[in-house]
Amino acid sequence: MRRRWLAAVAITMASVLGLAGCGGSGGGTASPAATGGGDAKKQVEVFSWWTGPGEADGLKAMREIFEKGNPTYTFFDAAVAGGSGDKAKALLQSKLQADTPPDTFQGHAGAELQGYIKAGDLEDLNSLYDELKLKDVFPTQLIDQISVDGKIYSVPVNIHRSNVLWFNPAVLKDAGVAAAPKSIDEFIAALEKVKAKGKIPLSIGSEWTVVHLMESVLLGSLGTDAYNALFKPGANWGSPEVTKALNSFKTILSYAGDPQDDWQPAAKQVADGEAAFNIMGDWAYGYFHNPPDGGLGKKSKTDFDWAPSPGTEGTYLWLSDSFTLPKGAKNRDGALAWLKVAASKEGQDAFNPKKGSIPARKDADQSLYTDYLADALKDWSSNKLAGSVQHGVSVNQPWLASITEAVGLFIGSKDVAALQKGLVDAATANAQ
Ligand code: GAL
Repeated sequence: MRRRWLAAVAITMASVLGLAGCGGSGGGTASPAATGGGDAKKQVEVFSWWTGPGEADGLKAMREIFEKGNPTYTFFDAAVAGGSGDKAKALLQSKLQADTPPDTFQGHAGAELQGYIKAGDLEDLNSLYDELKLKDVFPTQLIDQISVDGKIYSVPVNIHRSNVLWFNPAVLKDAGVAAAPKSIDEFIAALEKVKAKGKIPLSIGSEWTVVHLMESVLLGSLGTDAYNALFKPGANWGSPEVTKALNSFKTILSYAGDPQDDWQPAAKQVADGEAAFNIMGDWAYGYFHNPPDGGLGKKSKTDFDWAPSPGTEGTYLWLSDSFTLPKGAKNRDGALAWLKVAASKEGQDAFNPKKGSIPARKDADQSLYTDYLADALKDWSSNKLAGSVQHGVSVNQPWLASITEAVGLFIGSKDVAALQKGLVDAATANAQ
């Protein structure tokens, strides 16, 4: 298992170096700016990691609106493949350091964005917010996550939920699991029943998907208040409660199938009836539900079903994708035109139903959000909130890198004490 991930890390570094070497455009087609031809001035380089099945559908829907409304600009898709943006963020860092930022890039609201703000990478967007009256349309707690000292630095396009348990109803039925497990103990019992039937109890993807799994297990085991307290100054990652949660994490992970290359093939194992469960963000909904080629065109409640991850009912483990205006953007006006689309009701209502997320705007057209997304809208308005670790809300990038390292070692060693020590050290070194 470990060897395969090491290989994946090697590929990651190779692609980052390779991409950086070819001018930093990861969209597959050569950038007119990079090749020296074309109308470089009017190109708007939009940097994200939405290339894969499901994710790319949402971006395409928003791009179409941008292109229709902005015929003088060319949309340059600088997306870099790889779920959760691990590869994209590494390349972005090198572009920012070299003062060659894209015109706009995707950054998670919360600690991740605060990192870019504090590094002085971003322009504030207060005048855009005033012009479009955006303070009235985004939730106040979300604006807080993208602000420093009263200045707002990004445009949130969505709200995603991290703590979703996706499952295959037929596989559960066959294993004698009557309903989605509601607690960690019920989850472990269900995994055991599926194992006895010879199916994959839990599918996983590359290393980041295991960190993603861990945040759900921590939340489900500790409860919302104790989970949120982990990210406050002086938090106790060394507590017996965290030890208990990590022991459960170890047990749950022992039911995992072979790690797949990324989140899509792991999620697909559930929709295809090869695996029973997958804990993944609700971008998986877009992937399951969207028609081929973008998605799998699977039937909701038949091929796949969902529940809050075990022990987390009543809590929305949230994250939000937002777009920024980097200082020194080559096409600042073009970037602002993109941000206007990303901020608009039309843009968000085109993007989110395809992306598998709910809109960040409070005034979106609710009738467009059906099936899983109707549940998400309801829960978002009534649940307690907890911030995702893997997706930038609760921890900044150096802290996440240390957590990822500890989890990576744990995957090989299965040593809970060492994992907990790694998490304590990560918090001590990085909590502010
Ligand atoms: C998250 C991102 C989502 C989705 C996911 C999987 O970090 O916020 O929009 O792209 O990664 O790639």
